[in-house]
Amino acid sequence: KILILDFGSQFTQLIARRVREVGVYSEIHPWDMSEDALRAFAPAGIILSGGPESTIGDDAPVAPPLIYELGVPVLGICYGMQTMAAQLGGEVETSDHREFGYAQVRARGHTALLRDIEDHATPEGYGLLDVWMSHGDRVCTLPPGFNLMASTDSAPLAGMADEQRRFYGVQFHPEVTHTRQGTRILSRFVLDLCGCRALWNADSIIEDSIARVREKVGRDRVVLGLSGGVDSSVVAALLHQAIGDQLTCVFVDHGLLRLGESDQVMQTFARHMGVKVIRVDAQERFMSALQGEADPEAKRKIIGRLFIEIFDEEAGRITDARWLAQGTIYPDVIESAGSKTGKAHVIKSHHNVGGLPEDMKLGLVEPLRELFKDEVRKIGLELGLPSEMVYRHPFPGPGLGVRILGEVKQLYADLLRRADAIFIEELRRHELYDKVSQAFAVFLPVKAVGVMGDGRKYDYVVALRAVETIDFMTARWAHLPYEFLDLVSRRIVNEIDGITRVVYDVTGKPPGTIEWE
Ligand code: XMP
Repeated sequence: KILILDFGSQFTQLIARRVREVGVYSEIHPWDMSEDALRAFAPAGIILSGGPESTIGDDAPVAPPLIYELGVPVLGICYGMQTMAAQLGGEVETSDHREFGYAQVRARGHTALLRDIEDHATPEGYGLLDVWMSHGDRVCTLPPGFNLMASTDSAPLAGMADEQRRFYGVQFHPEVTHTRQGTRILSRFVLDLCGCRALWNADSIIEDSIARVREKVGRDRVVLGLSGGVDSSVVAALLHQAIGDQLTCVFVDHGLLRLGESDQVMQTFARHMGVKVIRVDAQERFMSALQGEADPEAKRKIIGRLFIEIFDEEAGRITDARWLAQGTIYPDVIESAGSKTGKAHVIKSHHNVGGLPEDMKLGLVEPLRELFKDEVRKIGLELGLPSEMVYRHPFPGPGLGVRILGEVKQLYADLLRRADAIFIEELRRHELYDKVSQAFAVFLPVKAVGVMGDGRKYDYVVALRAVETIDFMTARWAHLPYEFLDLVSRRIVNEIDGITRVVYDVTGKPPGTIEWE
């Protein structure tokens, strides 16, 4: 397995994902990982990530010196290359020629890392690589033992290699897709230079997880809060394969799910897969708890608290349960260099073990703890979950509760569900669903005038929202075709008695948020 030491780059997770895509398991640890932990990890190779700092400062983060003594290949990327150079006797300077974005690198193809890897050949015999750069500092003197491996006009030392010790540094970012040969370079490093075998794939992940779950829980009973979202669904499918009837899922239907969603969950898990699912129809409890409450944060709290309360009641009835399963995934647990404040054990608030009765003393089972979202999806498909479920847009825990502005009422929820279903159905039919990251309808409890037949009619307004985003931190509104919006709008107004007007949200994030509350 490959160790990635994180110096705080926004791309560190991408390095880990690319390495895993090549078929090799990798883990991210902070740059100041202890020597004991390093030895215990026993990496076959080490990658040093980029980072926002300058190696020139006094408190510049440096890799543990031990990594250069383990006898395994090391690849430094951007800041990782600079810290390697500085630590091994080279020099780094702050450059006037900052480089951000696309660059072309002249590669000396004779190194084991870059041999035969190029986008264009030149008459001079260099390979040219189209890469993505982002740096201010640069290496200006190679450390002893290193040779030049790559250069650009503004960074004459854009790559270095010590073939004897198998230490490599690149100033560009092989992990981003804009570096076209990036995956080949990482693959060369982990497979050929580190000697790892490509054994990490959906089948082996499943097999391995099943074995570990069986070993951990033995003949005990396990409880899982199933929400219909990707993570808990994959956990359900995986645990069902691992331990069959020892798994009981509790599915709390708060009545704020999308059209037909509750039945779909039961259909997929209970009927098709034979998973034991207790469905709790709690619509009325949620509606009455929400009555009269218009404040978004208060609504979130009410829904969250009641959800845990009901889950606990049900789970408490399964008297011999010893374990609580959760859909925690790797990005939830990575202790990255950027945020070292105890992210290590996040318990998703919806399935909060702290809320369960004291005497239950449940242990935690988190079979997806080491997986990225794309890996979770892959094993979900492999386990037989429908792809619509696995590739579904994210849906907030409070559901339609935060998509009905102000007070939540049954009528509003019913109207919204139908409008949302039409929007999503048309997105799928026009093959636009997978092109946007999240799409939904929002209910506005104001009445606007419309003309229906001969009369004027005052009814509600629905807003459509569709965004494109990578990380949900920033987003742009999706430029859906006018004809498409026209069709959706006409269908909603014609088919849903109670809605007279449809609007489309053209606000980015920032300044807007994705949800309306
Ligand atoms: P915002 O609205 O903050 O949304 O731009 C970013 C992402 O988070 C989701 N979201 C929530 N998810 N509980 C959740 O589980 C919530 O209360 C909540 N609020 C927003 C939102 O759907 C989007 O994907």
